[in-house]
Amino acid sequence: HSDIADDLESVLITEQEIRDKIAELARRIEADYAGERLLLVGVLRGAVMVMADLARELSLPIEMDWMAVSSYGSGTQSSGVVRILKDLDTDLHGRKVLIVEDIIDSGLTLSWLRANLGTRGADSVEICALLRKPAAAKLAVDVRYVGFEIPNAFVVGYGLDYAEKYRNYRDIGILAPHVYSSQ
Ligand code: PRP
Ligand code: MN
Ligand code: MG
Repeated sequence: HSDIADDLESVLITEQEIRDKIAELARRIEADYAGERLLLVGVLRGAVMVMADLARELSLPIEMDWMAVSSYGSGTQSSGVVRILKDLDTDLHGRKVLIVEDIIDSGLTLSWLRANLGTRGADSVEICALLRKPAAAKLAVDVRYVGFEIPNAFVVGYGLDYAEKYRNYRDIGILAPHVYSSQ
């Protein structure tokens, strides 16, 4: 018998705390984008849960599109390389764009993504990230909506994976070292 929780050292943020934070972010976004045609751009695959919950929490009429980029391999370290694996299907001209991410770790993915989307004629490109690690807080990339500032631990759950696992765990937890040190 094995359970996801066996691979976790501790729970960092509970499902309920996530829900409350998403509601809080949604109220700010509603106030900032009232009367606008907001396009949420989710970054596959980690942002799937945040997108689904944030979109349903918003009382604004929104549209959703998706991008897949890659900065990690299957390990825990950022490779420094960002590739577009799937581009948007939406024309950004005149649009208010809000990039939705699960986590900002090194900040590499988002600084690259914001610059890339910024060349496509959008009215504005802002960022909403549920989690932010300390390294990224120093970065020049301006993130309008941040859910939680978290310590420099390897976190999984609520969309976040380690080697594609744990995305369906409902809380956000810290991965136990035995999981990645044994590989
Ligand atoms: C993770 C995470 C962010 C990115 C953050 O995605 O979901 O998108 O890394 O890292 P950075 O700030 O150092 O660039 P990952 O590349 O693991 O792909 P995934 O979303 O499919 O898990
Ligand atoms: Mn991701
Ligand atoms: Mg990942």
